[in-house]
Amino acid sequence: MKEGKKSEMASRLVQDHKGLNEDIGALKIFMMKEVEPRDFGDWRLEFVWQLRDFKNRLLKHFDLEEEGGFMADVLEAAPHSENQINALKAEHDQIVVNLDDVMDQLKAMEARDVTRLNNIRMAVNDIFSVLREHENQEHTLMQRAYFREYGGPA
Ligand SMILES: [Fe+2]
Ligand SMILES: [Fe+2]
Repeated sequence: MKEGKKSEMASRLVQDHKGLNEDIGALKIFMMKEVEPRDFGDWRLEFVWQLRDFKNRLLKHFDLEEEGGFMADVLEAAPHSENQINALKAEHDQIVVNLDDVMDQLKAMEARDVTRLNNIRMAVNDIFSVLREHENQEHTLMQRAYFREYGGPA
């Protein structure tokens, strides 16, 4: 990838990661709301929709990384990163599977069930932790592919 394009890709990814983090913050607040049993149905639907929007945003982010040139640039700059790149790709798929699973569990809960709800909250928090660690790894790879090589942003 050309150098101007490289810095464009780096800033797009950084922006995307930032936007996703903001979504995560909002989702965490929404998820932890105290919900009265009579309001549970509305809350549940809204939560499923928010998770679905988040998943779609995440899928586009993964497309950008996988198809937009980021992973290819990393491999070019650091061919020994291949295993790590493959693991990151596999993690994309796993994160999506786990999000789908959480949405299915929510949809299957017709009335508020505190134990099941707490399990769902833990599962969502686990997904966010995996994602945070995932993005940290990508930031390191980004440094390698877009900055270190040229001693600064292209
Ligand atoms: Fe990723
Ligand atoms: Fe990412």
